[in-house]
Amino acid sequence: MCNLNHQLEIKKRRTFAIISHPDAGKTTITEKMLLLGKVLHSSGTVKARGSGKYAKSDWMKIEKDRGISITTSVMQFNYKNILINLLDTPGHQDFSEDTYRILTAVDCCLLVIDAAKGIEERTKKLMDVSRLHNTPIITFINKLDRDSLEPIEILDQIEKELKLSCIPITWPISCGRNFKGVFHLDEKLIYLYNKLKQSNIFKTNFSYSEKYLLEKYISSDLTVQVYEELKLISHVYSKFNKKDFLKSIVTPVFFGSALTNFGIDHILEGLIKWAPAPIYRKSNIRKIQPEEKYFTGFVFKIQANMDLKHHDRIAFIRIVSGTYRKGIKLRHVRIKKNIIISDAFYFIAGDRFSIKVAYPGDVIGIHNHGTIKIGDSFTEGEEINFIGIPSFAPEIFRRIFLKNPLQQKQLKKGLMQLSEEGAIQVFYPFNNNHLILGAIGILQFDIVIQRLKIEYKIDAIYEKVNITMARWITSDNKKSIDIFVNDNKSHLALDNFNNLTYLAPNRANLNIIISRYIDINFNQIREQ
Ligand code: G4P
Repeated sequence: MCNLNHQLEIKKRRTFAIISHPDAGKTTITEKMLLLGKVLHSSGTVKARGSGKYAKSDWMKIEKDRGISITTSVMQFNYKNILINLLDTPGHQDFSEDTYRILTAVDCCLLVIDAAKGIEERTKKLMDVSRLHNTPIITFINKLDRDSLEPIEILDQIEKELKLSCIPITWPISCGRNFKGVFHLDEKLIYLYNKLKQSNIFKTNFSYSEKYLLEKYISSDLTVQVYEELKLISHVYSKFNKKDFLKSIVTPVFFGSALTNFGIDHILEGLIKWAPAPIYRKSNIRKIQPEEKYFTGFVFKIQANMDLKHHDRIAFIRIVSGTYRKGIKLRHVRIKKNIIISDAFYFIAGDRFSIKVAYPGDVIGIHNHGTIKIGDSFTEGEEINFIGIPSFAPEIFRRIFLKNPLQQKQLKKGLMQLSEEGAIQVFYPFNNNHLILGAIGILQFDIVIQRLKIEYKIDAIYEKVNITMARWITSDNKKSIDIFVNDNKSHLALDNFNNLTYLAPNRANLNIIISRYIDINFNQIREQ
């Protein structure tokens, strides 16, 4: 076990990511959190990244062309003596398998919902992923300064569609032009929203049983309505219970307006009070606890071309136990080699910073010279492999082919390396020589074509293909697999790691096949 200082470092850390549909407010919330954490000193800085102001190093060409950030950074800030690691999840066009995998490297998620839109499609998918590890979820309903759905309706959607029981911690007083603030049900305080000085709030210590005092601030009609709502919710929703939160059975819910920095401090208070300090991770042999003396960690993301001139690749490691120190000797378990880590980094908007010391819950970036794969484990000697860093079935497919057919061998080599980095998935159909690429986000195809060109000098193009779903095939019964393969050759392929995969043209086809072969598992995720 570790010393007292190490234990304190663990206790004061929280590592989380934001789950949201594009435009729900993730960037705005990130920015306000960094302001509250005093990392930023003015608004608009996060959005400005990629615009030139912060893109000091050589960004990938696509990143520059489209003005988006492909680089996942870890933002670290202090809030009331707690060190918060916020892992940025690629969101808009840069949405990819990385977004999913980052959720396996955090201990808590903040679910952000646009109050006018409720639960949206992307939110559901991301929640499915966070469910794989039963990650605790804190919920923030954003944009109350605009006309919104009824709060109860939104909570109903969360309960029905995300199967998560809601415990409101704050409750909004109206919305849109009438938005007056929130009741903090836990603190029994009213936080008033001031439209004119938007980021200023008035804190009153009136217990809400003293209804008449509220009438001083908002109309008596609204006061009556709000008190009725409060009576109702006290009957409908249970009290917050941390145990159920940590098991991801319930979610504490906050309301606010990120744009005007209203309610973000409530989320941070919840996060430091309830979110777990870095927790254990499972390995193939045993659970590894953060308090253990020796360093362990796993790779959940590989980022290429952080510096285009050097074609450098950075592997991001989530530290599970022990301490990272510059010059540490680590065991790369899969390839059975010891390496000295002479430098590790973290990145914010194109700048890299050298890390001297890091603890469980932190994320460090190390140089990858083509030997590191997603899911790799690093230790100070122990031969353990972390589990639970999955691949996710692609959702979009393309056929890739060469402009110069003589480069077939190089193409396969390049694709192998890119798939090891988690940039793309590759499938080799049984019945033809096509090469099928699979991805979660559409931008991945452009990135792969560009990287093939720059790093491997390969000119390739892609086209649409009649595949919309992939499932990895497993079964306890070898005979069933043989029969299945024999019957379905035209839809079968091997992926880059020789896993049998069914490529379906549509959902109806997949459903029919699933119902026909009851002994066969059609897996949507696969361990690395
Ligand atoms: P995302 O990262 O989840 O995609 O969302 P982002 O924060 O970029 O927010 C999407 C849009 O919603 C932005 O407007 C942002 O200003 C707005 N927004 C975020 N939070 C709030 C809020 O609490 N209230 C209101 N009214 N708007 C909010 P935009 O016009 O698309 O971008 P911008 O030009 O303002 O940057």
